[in-house]
Amino acid sequence: MIVGIIGSGGREHAICTMLKSSKKVSELYCFPGNAGTSKIAKNIDLNVDDFEKLKNFILEKKIELVVVGPEKPLVDGIVDYLEKFKIKVFGPKKLASQLEGSKIFTKKICEKYNIPTAKFGIFDNIHNAVKFLKKSKYPIVIKADNLASGKGVYICDNEEESMNAVQEIFQGKFGDAKNVLIEEFLNGEEMSFFVISDGISIQNFGTAQDHKRVLEGDKGKNTGGMGAYSPSRLITNELEKKIIKKIINPTLKALKELGTNYKGFLYAGLMIVDNEPYLIEYNVRMGDPECQTILPKLKTDLVDVFLSCCEQKLNQIKLDWSNKKSLCIVLCSKGYPDKYKKNIEIKNLDKIKLNSNDYIFHAGTFKNSDNKISAMGGRVLNFVSLSEEFVNAKKNILNHLNILNWSGGFFRKDIGYKVIDK
Ligand code: AMP
Ligand code: GLY
Repeated sequence: MIVGIIGSGGREHAICTMLKSSKKVSELYCFPGNAGTSKIAKNIDLNVDDFEKLKNFILEKKIELVVVGPEKPLVDGIVDYLEKFKIKVFGPKKLASQLEGSKIFTKKICEKYNIPTAKFGIFDNIHNAVKFLKKSKYPIVIKADNLASGKGVYICDNEEESMNAVQEIFQGKFGDAKNVLIEEFLNGEEMSFFVISDGISIQNFGTAQDHKRVLEGDKGKNTGGMGAYSPSRLITNELEKKIIKKIINPTLKALKELGTNYKGFLYAGLMIVDNEPYLIEYNVRMGDPECQTILPKLKTDLVDVFLSCCEQKLNQIKLDWSNKKSLCIVLCSKGYPDKYKKNIEIKNLDKIKLNSNDYIFHAGTFKNSDNKISAMGGRVLNFVSLSEEFVNAKKNILNHLNILNWSGGFFRKDIGYKVIDK
């Protein structure tokens, strides 16, 4: 089978790697991919926003299944478009992707279906937002209502910070956000919870704890994710049942009532407060770096999983998971998430000997014409290791990072601190 993957991050390299290990996959294309995917797939440098060009390429190369990694093409309606040409695509349609594309769409569903979430208000002009903030208790959370790669969220400790936040959002710092969302601050522990759905049934697809902040101790600016571990230390059968019953099922019901269904990965970003789940946000894709952390634990052939979703036969497949613990540390360019230098060569990659429980997934890398690998993005490489204990997974990764010894980068040394005793 010929498979195409859209995206260029660590998540997509992880998906490519698992698909490559399937005997059923004969050829892989990645749009546009990175230096890591170039080893196992054909990287195709075309503009993914140009759906027509992409569709023509898919038809010409007889690609039989397309997997969409990132949110933007999903929110822009790539699945609806490709399906019109009878192309099999793994991912949710445009209407369902609003779960990630518009925080207000999700909040309204929460309100109507009684899904536990932070109390909130929606403001379409700065005047009313300011009036409300002057009467509010702090801390308070302020969000832009559009895709902002996790950056359009402010946790404000006082009135001054909140005034700055609403000003920046309405001035267009995160693109064209017509509304701000002001919500209650939830004090708990976060968890990333994943399910996979074919529109009829769902299966759990693991849990993880992501470290979003750039500095050790979970401090500093928000990033795309500096590392993760799976499973989350919070998950129990009881909590899992609550999440499905109170959050996932009502959401899927809401989508059905809106006339659509959900095919793809659904990622619930949750805050767990006193063993009760609250929805912070939905993402309509796998997390990054959670995908790199969770996928190596999956023993079932990934292509069968994707196909069963596209054919609405997910209930006929049993997902088989390793019981091992998985940890991922992200190596970033110095300066990330602010300005960083590009085009810095990464040597020593071939000096690292990986065993069957270790992985290096590329993110912002590219291969020069002379076959040298250089960094071009903020998040550059993902080091993943599976082990009986988190502490050993981390030791393996630190050993690999030590061998790489890349002077252009930095990483957090405390990933997993809540599950690893010093
Ligand atoms: P989001 O992009 O909505 O996931 O928000 C980014 C991060 O902000 C989350 O991962 C949380 O750490 C934090 N956050 C968002 N909403 C809240 C909230 N209501 N209470 C506490 N923290 C929040
Ligand atoms: N790791 C957070 C995200 O993928 O949105």
